[in-house]
Amino acid sequence: MNQTGTLDHAWLLIDDQHISAFGSMPSMPTDADAYIDAEEGLVIPSFADSHTHLVYTGSRDGEFLDKINGLSYEQIAERGGGILNSADLLHNTTEDQLYEQSMTRVKELLRKGTGAIEIKSGYGLRTKDELKMLRVIKRIRHSSPAIIKATFLGAHAVARGMTKEEYVRLIINEMLPKVAQEQLADFVDVFCDKGFFTVDDTDSILSAARQYGIRPKIHANELAVSGGVQAGVRHQALSVDHLEQTTDIEIQALQATDTMPTMLPGSSFFLGLPYGRAKEFIKAGLGVALASDYNPGSSPSGDMRFVMALGCIQMRLTPVQAFNAVTLNSAYAMGVSRQVGSITVGKIANLIITQPMTSLTMIPYQYQTPFIRYHILAGQMLPLEQ
Ligand code: NIG
Ligand code: FE
Repeated sequence: MNQTGTLDHAWLLIDDQHISAFGSMPSMPTDADAYIDAEEGLVIPSFADSHTHLVYTGSRDGEFLDKINGLSYEQIAERGGGILNSADLLHNTTEDQLYEQSMTRVKELLRKGTGAIEIKSGYGLRTKDELKMLRVIKRIRHSSPAIIKATFLGAHAVARGMTKEEYVRLIINEMLPKVAQEQLADFVDVFCDKGFFTVDDTDSILSAARQYGIRPKIHANELAVSGGVQAGVRHQALSVDHLEQTTDIEIQALQATDTMPTMLPGSSFFLGLPYGRAKEFIKAGLGVALASDYNPGSSPSGDMRFVMALGCIQMRLTPVQAFNAVTLNSAYAMGVSRQVGSITVGKIANLIITQPMTSLTMIPYQYQTPFIRYHILAGQMLPLEQ
């Protein structure tokens, strides 16, 4: 977490989609087809956003007003708003409309420097609508130059008109088999938290998912110390996400595991929740990833540079720690750290060339000043004006 290799006055060679070499200026190849002068800018890997819910329809600006007037996220959910509100809207939206609306968000994120995005279902809450969301994510994967991973989050909230037991059975007996059969999900997720799904529910769903070979990435400890971290670790989750509410026991549970603790400072910011204790995790020897949680209810922004800034300003991470958390570690937390997340020969050329700046610190410090000069995805320059 505390180091990142840097090379001053350097060159980097892209061959088709991949980084094929880099080095110090005197050794720059002279036979490249084209050259881009980075001038006084930095060349850094694109951001990886390992936790989003960006496939949704409509907005929840009414609940934004409720929050301003004093209601909490849980109180809004208890009144039948929140996730159920987004689900009602999604039921009346066609797959094409949902795709168009979601692609607009994806394009915005690419312009802001993100090159890999994990996207969850979870606003369907009925088999056909969960499948609709996952098919939209598949279409995004095929039509966007970014790396896209899909997560099945049927267990986001209990569907209207059902008991929790009925709904968990529906997830296990109907949704999961169809999702697996159509190969629509890379990961499975459960919102294991107070007022949503218990550790027992989580255990049942993740055990069922294991039979299809789908690895978990779970929501845990956003609203309460939920036992979700330990459940994730038991099921070899790739990541456990949120972690606003954690004790030393959760930190211990994560030791010597392959599970990446992932914190989502954008939702702490928007909901006024405590920030994750990233510094203590790092002190205990753990890696930490940061992601946006982009969704209409708790984090209506997918700006990873702002996430990095919150990591520094609110969580007191150093710029280098925050940088590692939004690149290589978040790439790991979505299963793509062998392909992207660092400047490494053989990795996909997902790179940002920044505006002139003296150090990495400028990125979170001047947290609103545009900093991207070029964004290159899979070796291709992304048009920045769209
Ligand atoms: O990660 N916590 C659960 N899910 C989302 C919020 C989704 C919503 O409110 O629409 C989150 O914060
Ligand atoms: Fe989330």
